[in-house]
Amino acid sequence: MSWHAHIITLFPQLFPGPLGCSVIGRALENNIWSLGLSNPRDFAPDKHRTVDGPPSGGGAGMVMRADILGNTLDHIRQSHPDLPVYYLSPRGKTFTQQTAHDFKALPGMILLCGRFEGVDQRFLDHYNVQELSLGDFVLAGGEVAAMTILETILRLLPDVLGSASSLHDESFENGLLEYPQYTKPILWQGHEVPKILLSGHHQKIAQWRLKQSEALTEDRRADLWQDYSKTKK
Ligand SMILES: C[S@@+](CC[C@H](N)C(=O)[O-])C[C@H]1O[C@@H](n2cnc3c(N)ncnc32)[C@H](O)[C@@H]1O
Repeated sequence: MSWHAHIITLFPQLFPGPLGCSVIGRALENNIWSLGLSNPRDFAPDKHRTVDGPPSGGGAGMVMRADILGNTLDHIRQSHPDLPVYYLSPRGKTFTQQTAHDFKALPGMILLCGRFEGVDQRFLDHYNVQELSLGDFVLAGGEVAAMTILETILRLLPDVLGSASSLHDESFENGLLEYPQYTKPILWQGHEVPKILLSGHHQKIAQWRLKQSEALTEDRRADLWQDYSKTKK
């Protein structure tokens, strides 16, 4: 069974977009994951396929309607009764690498991409939908957030990346930022690749990389450094 991503979006033409390229795109072709798309406009009863209404109580913009989103989700649930539903929203819990590890263990997820001023609260309450944020900023819609979240999860699935070991040292995997990387040529514009990396001494290279990771993390991310220092003690 492949990991299933089902997206509710007013712009299904945006998908798979970047998720159709490179390793994630190949994984889609190889059925490691599968993609479903539902457009709420297909579940709107009127001839204009209206999905939004003015905010109750007044104010700017429009709000996505609970009844139309409910029809959309009920339809998806007929074929995917067990998938959890998440609404991409700046008000949600911030998505992290750890969240991605938690989500990869699920059979998949249904992601609702908001537009306009967001969605009617009654829909979220009725279906107990959790909210997930990409960070403390406001996008025009949830589609880019959904793609970002999916790309992060999907590259963690078995057999998606060529070498599983490439995940191990990555930023956030061990509470640290990744060490600096170098490649050919050995000398470029007067800058040399650090000699230790050319020594072939694997243990010393690993020690050097850890030191670099620690220094970078301490310098750039006080929050991560505090947690890491605690666990190191
Ligand atoms: C213009 S935003 C609505 C913002 C909303 N009025 C608010 O102030 O919280 C439209 C849609 O973009 C998506 N979106 C915006 N910022 C996001 C973020 N930081 N993380 C995830 N989704 C976001 C959500 O799906 C949202 O419904």
